[in-house]
This record gives sequence, structure tokens and C-alpha cells, in this order.
Amino acid sequence: MANTSEQSKSNIDVDTGHDYDGIHEYDNPLPRWWLIIFWVCIAFGYGYWIHFHVAGTGKSEIAELQEQQAEAVKRAANAKEVTDDVLTLLSKDPETTAAGAKLFATNCVVCHGANGEGKIGPNLTDAFWIHGNKPTDIYKTVSTGVLEKGMPAWLPVLGPDRVRTLVAFVITREGLNLPGKEPQGVRVTGGQ
Ligand code: HEC
Repeated sequence: MANTSEQSKSNIDVDTGHDYDGIHEYDNPLPRWWLIIFWVCIAFGYGYWIHFHVAGTGKSEIAELQEQQAEAVKRAANAKEVTDDVLTLLSKDPETTAAGAKLFATNCVVCHGANGEGKIGPNLTDAFWIHGNKPTDIYKTVSTGVLEKGMPAWLPVLGPDRVRTLVAFVITREGLNLPGKEPQGVRVTGGQ
């Protein structure tokens, strides 16, 4: 024992004079490898904090996920798929809705009014729907019509592209609550 303590009392060992049940405490410098890891961790922490929280240059996982979802919907739109997401996306595209407004003026105003407020056909601007207000519901109604009630089927006349464009426009009408034909169908909450 005497030997070891002689050896450890080299010039880098600083004896703190503490002794716990025979365990002697020295105040030696920390190993270099430990210090390197320690400082690298602190530097990384600062970098991370500045990148994600201060400078805002880093994207959060939520933002990345939302971007991926938006990309997926865009791909589906380009592939001309008919889903609620795709139709909702189209309803936010000014070019599509402007084209839809033109198609509506040509084909729909006779029965649904100049602004969708309803005439023979229902008011498309209120919260009441006979055949559902999900974008895909509207697509179905416009495509196949309700022949016995006087709503023509538009898919055979206009084709899928123009029907999608029209539906995008109809989605933008909802919630405008224009005075016109009295409510028909059931009140829907949420959805598009
Ligand atoms: C000849 C008249 C007529 C024309 C033209 C017409 N519709 Fe209709 N539409 C109706 C009638 C009537 C109904 C109600 C059907 C029912 O009572 O089930 C209706 C229902 C609808 C509905 C469903 C409303 C709901 O409450 O569920 C949508 C959406 C719709 N029409 C869109 C269009 C679009 C878009 C066009 C133009 C491409 C169009 N309609 C052209 C008469 C028409």
C-alpha cells in the first residue's frame, strides 16, 4: 500500500486529503478523451439549439411530416386521383377554381343560381346537404347526378377533369351562406 501511494504521489496527483474508509481521493485532471467528448457535447447542444430554436433554419419533425403529406397529395392530384385531400387541394388552387367558376356559369347556374345560392337545385352555399358535403360526396353527386330529382349526370357530358374542376369550385362556395333557396337536406358540421 505504501508503495502505491508513493507512486501515485507523482507530480500530477493532487491529494485532497480526503479519505473515505481507506479510499483516498485525488484531484487529478480529467482524462483528455473525457474532456473532448464533454466539450463536443456542449458545442453540439448549442448548435442544435441555435439551428432549431433560435435561427429557425432547421425543420421540426412535424413540419417535415406536413411537407411530406402535402407532397403526397400533390402527387395524387397530378395522377388525377379523386380523394377528399386531392379535391380540397384543388379547391385552394386559384387557377382551378377560376376554371371551375366558368364551367359552373355555363352548366350549373340555370338550376343552382349565379353564385350557387340555389334555384330549382339546392343552395350550395349553406350548411345543408342532401347527398353529403365531403369532397368525394360532391364529386359523386355531380358525376352521376340525381336523375329522378332533375340533377343531370355530368361525368358523361364533361369528363373527369372538368368534373374535378367543378367540384373544386363548389367546395369554395360552401359556407358563403348566400340568401337563396331554403335549406334542404341535413345540416353538416365540419368537413369541406
Ligand atoms: C337541370 C337542373 C340542374 C342543373 C343544370 C344542375 N343541377 Fe345540381 N342539382 C339539381 C337538383 C334538382 C338537385 C337536388 C337533387 C336532390 O334533390 O336529390 C341538385 C343537386 C346538386 C348537388 C347536391 C346538393 C346537395 O345538397 O347534396 C350538387 C353538388 C350539384 N347539384 C352540383 C351541380 C353542378 C356542379 C352542376 C353543373 C355542372 C349542376 N349541379 C347542374 C339540379 C340541377
